[in-house]
Amino acid sequence: MDEIIRCEGLQKVYQMGENKVYALRGVTTAFEKGGFTAVTGPSGSGKSTLLHLLSGLDRPTAGKVFYQGADLYQYGDNQLSVLRRRRFGFVFQNYNLVKELTGMENILLPVMLDNRKPDRRYLDQVIELLRIGDRVNHLPGAMSGGQQQRVSIARALANKPAVLFADEPTGNLDMKTGREVLSLMQRTSRELGITLILVTHDLNVAEQAERVLYIEDGQIEKDL
Ligand SMILES: Nc1ncnc2c1ncn2[C@@H]1O[C@H](COP(=O)(O)OP(=O)(O)OP(=O)(O)O)[C@@H](O)[C@H]1O
Ligand SMILES: [Mg+2]
Repeated sequence: MDEIIRCEGLQKVYQMGENKVYALRGVTTAFEKGGFTAVTGPSGSGKSTLLHLLSGLDRPTAGKVFYQGADLYQYGDNQLSVLRRRRFGFVFQNYNLVKELTGMENILLPVMLDNRKPDRRYLDQVIELLRIGDRVNHLPGAMSGGQQQRVSIARALANKPAVLFADEPTGNLDMKTGREVLSLMQRTSRELGITLILVTHDLNVAEQAERVLYIEDGQIEKDL
């Protein structure tokens, strides 16, 4: 397997007053380059925590994450955020678009923050794949939930990431829209050769993945 991300003994413990919350209890696994993995499991089992640690959004209590062999948490905060901005895209349940900016401005934001010139041809391709060409000049407030989420997927893809992380991206959408957004995200990732790691409660969604990681109580219970 040509792996892109690997984690070893990944732990996250939150100290809540006198109590410790074990959000992740030592997760070891690897993700194949270009693959589509669904992460599922009960609420509070540690799915978001796992995604945040794999993508460098948060630091583990113990354990390691390797991106193409490089130990993520050996990097300082600045280096880590540069790597994250260039190599990873993240899609959240609540879209997280800047509401004062148009769809296009939102999409361009990560490229601008990186002081790079947008690759127009590539962005046009992403926008076409996600079918938002007629929406990108509007503010998020004038878009449906499904459109906002597709814009946020385009934003996550703008920097040509190697890995796209999505945490319940269809959680706020009705079932039909959710399915559409998901299949667009899947197809877009496949066409662009991007590794997709997606948290979902929807078993129908998980069924479409090449691999399903079932998390329970901070551990991998099943790897199918
Ligand atoms: N910042 C935090 N401080 C304290 N405890 C936290 C924090 N973030 C998460 N936890 C706890 O860690 C555990 C795992 O949380 P996590 O958000 O990863 O679950 P999840 O599987 O994503 O759940 P959901 O499906 O509801 O989104 C939970 O018990 C949660 O309460
Ligand atoms: Mg979660």
